[in-house]
Amino acid sequence: MSVHRLDAFQACESALRKRDLKQALYDAGKVVMDGVLLTLHGDAHVERRGVEVRVFRRNFFKYYEKEVFPVTLEQTLAPYIASGGGDLVEIGYQLTVNLTADFAGIDRPQRTAQETERLIAITKKLSEGATMVHSTRDKAELEAEVGAALTALDSEFLQASVVRREALLRAVAAGEIADTESPRDVLTVILQARDELQMDHPQLVREIGFYMQAGAHSTANSVIHALHEIEQWAGDDADRWARLGDPIFVQHCVHESLRLHPASPEAWRTATCPMHVGADDVATGARIELDLFQANRDKSVFGADSEIFDPDRAVPSNVLRSGLTFGIGLHTCLGRELDGGVVAKKGADIESCQFGIVTLIVIRLLALGARTMPDDPPQPDTKTTRPNWGRFPVTFTKV
Ligand code: HEM
Repeated sequence: MSVHRLDAFQACESALRKRDLKQALYDAGKVVMDGVLLTLHGDAHVERRGVEVRVFRRNFFKYYEKEVFPVTLEQTLAPYIASGGGDLVEIGYQLTVNLTADFAGIDRPQRTAQETERLIAITKKLSEGATMVHSTRDKAELEAEVGAALTALDSEFLQASVVRREALLRAVAAGEIADTESPRDVLTVILQARDELQMDHPQLVREIGFYMQAGAHSTANSVIHALHEIEQWAGDDADRWARLGDPIFVQHCVHESLRLHPASPEAWRTATCPMHVGADDVATGARIELDLFQANRDKSVFGADSEIFDPDRAVPSNVLRSGLTFGIGLHTCLGRELDGGVVAKKGADIESCQFGIVTLIVIRLLALGARTMPDDPPQPDTKTTRPNWGRFPVTFTKV
C-alpha cells in the first residue's frame, strides 16, 4: 500500500474536505470504533450525523455553558480547593467525563465520587482502545481490556439509561409529558430514530462508548496544554498575568494552545478511487496521512514564529485560530463550539460571549492561581506516543 504524507496547511485542509477519502486512523481501534460516526463513510455517515447533530446546537451550548456546567465545575473542584490543589489530569477527567456523559446520554443516578471514578476508568480504557494505532502496549492484551470496558459501560450504565429514555419517549408519544421533558442527548436521538438508523445493541454500545471518550480525553488534555502554555508565557511578567483577567484574552490563549496541541496530531484517510491529493496522484487504497501538528505550524499561514505561543497572533480571516485541531469537512468535530465556544472579538460584551468549556475551566483555574510545582513537575503519558500528559500536579496559590 502506498502512503502519502501531507504537512502543509492548505493541502491538509483540502484533503479533509474530499468526499472520496475515507477515515482510516481507527482501523486498529475497531473493538470500540467499528461502525461509529467517526469511522462511517458516505451515505451511512450523512444519515447518522444528520440524526446526532440535533443535540449539538448553539443555543443548547449556551444554555449548557451558563446553567449546567458551572454547577459541575464547582462541585468537582470543591475537594481540590479544600486540599489546595491536585493533579489536573485527574481533575480534568472528572470534569469532562460528566460533560461527555451529559451529551452521550449516560445517567449517573448515584452522583457519588465512586460512580464517577468507575465511569472515568471505563472512559480512559475506551480512549486507549480508540487510539490503539499510537499505543505502546501489547495490542491483544489492550483489546481484551477494551472489550471488558465496553461490557461494563453497557451493564453498569447504558442499559439503565436506555430503559429510562424509552419510558420517557413512550410518555411523550402518549401525550403524558411534553417533548421538552425528554433528555437532550445522543442516546435519546438515536432511540427516537431507531427504525431509521437500524442500529443493533452492540453498535449502540460502541457509539455511546465512542462519544464518552471522544470528548473527555481531548477536552481534559486541551485544558492542561492551555494552562501550561499560559504559565510559561506569563512567567514573572505581572502585566501578562494582569491581561489574563480578561476572559476574552483567555479564550484567545486557549485557541492558540489548541492550534499548537491538536488532540489528534494526525488524521489518516484511505483513497476510495484514484485522485489527486496535495501534489501527488494517488491510487485507490492508498493511505493519506495528514500531519495536523505540522499543518497547524505552517509558516505560510501562521507566520514565521508559528512554533511559539502568541495569543495576540493575527491569523488570515478564512482560517480558524485553532487551525485544524477540530478537523474540517465531513468529520468536523461536533463538539467544536461546545468546547471552543465562538471566538469573541476584543472588547465584546462578556455576557453575550460563548466562551466554550475549555476556556471556562481555564478561567476558573487561573482565578484559583493554579501553578505547577518545581519539586513535582508534570510528567508525559508513557502509554502512548501521542503528546499527552500522564500527571500534571498543580497548587492553587489563590485559595
Ligand atoms: C478540545 C476538544 C476536542 C477536540 C480537539 C476534538 C477534535 C476532533 C477532531 C479532530 C475530529 C475529526 C477527526 C477526523 O477528521 O478524523 C473530531 C470529531 C468528532 N468529535 Fe471532537 N474534539 C473535541 C471535543 C469533542 C467533544 C466535547 C465532543 C462531544 C461531546 C466531540 C465529538 C466529536 C464527534 C461526534 C466527532 C465525529 C464527527 C464525525 O465523524 O462526523 N468532540 N473531534
